[in-house]
Amino acid sequence: MLFDMERPSGFEPYEVLVNLIVPRPIAWVSTLSPEGVYNLAPFSFFNALCDEPPLVVVSVSRREDGRKKDTAENALKTGDFVINIASEELLEKVKITSKDFPPEVDEFEVAGLTPVRAYKVKSPRLLESRAWLECELFRHEELFGYDLLYGRVVFAGAESLDYGTLKPLGRVGGGFCRIIEINQEP
Ligand SMILES: Cc1cc2nc3c(=O)[nH]c(=O)nc-3n(C[C@H](O)[C@H](O)[C@H](O)COP(=O)(O)O)c2cc1C
Repeated sequence: MLFDMERPSGFEPYEVLVNLIVPRPIAWVSTLSPEGVYNLAPFSFFNALCDEPPLVVVSVSRREDGRKKDTAENALKTGDFVINIASEELLEKVKITSKDFPPEVDEFEVAGLTPVRAYKVKSPRLLESRAWLECELFRHEELFGYDLLYGRVVFAGAESLDYGTLKPLGRVGGGFCRIIEINQEP
């Protein structure tokens, strides 16, 4: 199969990317609106950029009418966000929080999840998550119709650093996957 990504015809470049760049980690991002409403949504166009200082980036697309998604809006206003690691048992809740709710809706409440105070940032973290990264918004870039949120990780918490224990979910195409290691040698 061949794809001219500059002149797509008969295919969506999105489909090529999300099926070839796999698996992708999932940032389950929690934020706080200026009105005090908690927000939670998953993002798989996400990765670590460097470790000194520890920086990550989350790419948030816009709504169909061009408005920013709540995650981007909140992170820009409060200046921080939390990346919660979604483990396998939370799959159904991840799906619920990905629905397009209006800004006044608290996705923690809708999904039956518990927001708790983070250690260093204003955004809440998710109690049910086994690991989390607290991020200060280091930089915001508008790139075409996307909001790139660069986060400086200022605090992290984890039940374990063993992914066999954390069982983080990954994204493959439009579905989900689990991590199964096939070779422990470097
Ligand atoms: C596993 C998963 C990964 C997703 N990844 C992204 C992503 O990388 N970028 C994006 O803009 N939306 C992504 N979405 C869709 C958002 O979660 C969805 O638009 C959500 O409603 C945004 O919520 P918000 O308006 O509260 O920020 C993803 C959805 C799922 C289920």
